[in-house]
Amino acid sequence: MSSTTLPITLGIIGGGQLGRMMAIAAQQMGIGVSVLHPSADCSAAPVSDVCVGDWTKREDLLGWAEAVDVITLEHEFVAAADLDELVRRGTPVWPQGRSLECVQDKWLQRSHLQAAGLPVPQFRAVDSWADVQLAVAELGLPLVLKTRRMGYDGHGTAIARSHQELESIWARFCPPDMEPLGQLLAEEFVPFEQELAVMAIRRRNGDCRSYPVATTVQKNYVCDYTIAPAAIPRAVGEKAQEIAIAAVRAIESVGAIGVELFLTKSGDVLVNELAPRPHNSGHYTLNGCATNQFEQHVRAVLDLPLGSTELLVPAVAMANIFGTRQGANVSLPLDAALVPAGVYLHWYGKSAERPGRKMGHLNAIASSIDRARDAAIEARDALSRWRSRDNENAGDA
Ligand SMILES: Nc1ncnc2c1ncn2[C@@H]1O[C@H](COP(=O)(O)OP(=O)(O)O)[C@@H](O)[C@H]1O
Ligand SMILES: [Mg+2]
Repeated sequence: MSSTTLPITLGIIGGGQLGRMMAIAAQQMGIGVSVLHPSADCSAAPVSDVCVGDWTKREDLLGWAEAVDVITLEHEFVAAADLDELVRRGTPVWPQGRSLECVQDKWLQRSHLQAAGLPVPQFRAVDSWADVQLAVAELGLPLVLKTRRMGYDGHGTAIARSHQELESIWARFCPPDMEPLGQLLAEEFVPFEQELAVMAIRRRNGDCRSYPVATTVQKNYVCDYTIAPAAIPRAVGEKAQEIAIAAVRAIESVGAIGVELFLTKSGDVLVNELAPRPHNSGHYTLNGCATNQFEQHVRAVLDLPLGSTELLVPAVAMANIFGTRQGANVSLPLDAALVPAGVYLHWYGKSAERPGRKMGHLNAIASSIDRARDAAIEARDALSRWRSRDNENAGDA
């Protein structure tokens, strides 16, 4: 039997906040980390070695891979063929290229999950305006349109509530005088009771575990805050966890996987989408669970025993902190956010701010889900007041 012995270097494709938090978990376990990222001052830079390079260029990937033992990813936007080539040359990559291929295209992902017997909203591939009209006839309005590839945080998702909106969304996604953004996915609008998310984890040897179900609340298609445990009947929670495990098995992913779900008014659970990596909806595990999703991901891709996914607190809420201004001068007044007991700041150390960019998050633990949510949101409001006051004082633009 083989065993993992230190020293070992984990390679992470992408040095954004997810790469940073994975690197912190790995470093705590004595594992060295090298990230491949286009800029040297990425979020993960203070906690890893950065190799400046482009993950869309095979030569950059191959050159970097020589210095690492095992490779994983913080996002799914890498060509599967390039990952296969890394493996052929002797560096294991988890999750594998074929798992990523199952999710990179939202239509293929849906088709794959449906073929595996998982419940998904009704959907159609859409390549022309005639297809859109057919989709409206079959699925009705509102109709959800999504770009099949490269969508995230609502980039590439739009809900048409009228024929007029449908035309303007089509014109935006597929302008007549330009190359279309790519093929689209049309799907039924799900008037969900709430959005749920389950983090699941699969070790290289096939062992799987799931975390408690969280409620996620989106604003403008982007996760605003999450609450765990979700306030749902036990049977719904168990169903959501079973679906999450079935989903990770369906794409044979390894590591953490975020499974976004819709809970319908009639109590059905539908899969919206998968992200085969640590996920925003699992950030609560950093302060709420026995083993956080990042450590778990590192363990899984190194084929180490998985840790407990147990929630150790009555309730934990996570609130994302978004950028409000454009600029390289990112300030962080710590005082406000750090005052309340049970509130934990996770700042990503980004070198530039943009309106809407995820700059950090706050986790709040409390005796009830309502108290946890209020504490996370109050701490975020306090932080944003301090940040805007600082920006005014600095008189910057
Ligand atoms: N079929 C749908 N019905 C209702 N709301 C949807 C549907 N699909 C997406 N949404 C809303 O849009 C958000 C973003 O869509 P999603 O498919 O998760 O794309 P992204 O890749 O941008 O996260 C979802 O979290 C949900 O709030
Ligand atoms: Mg999503």
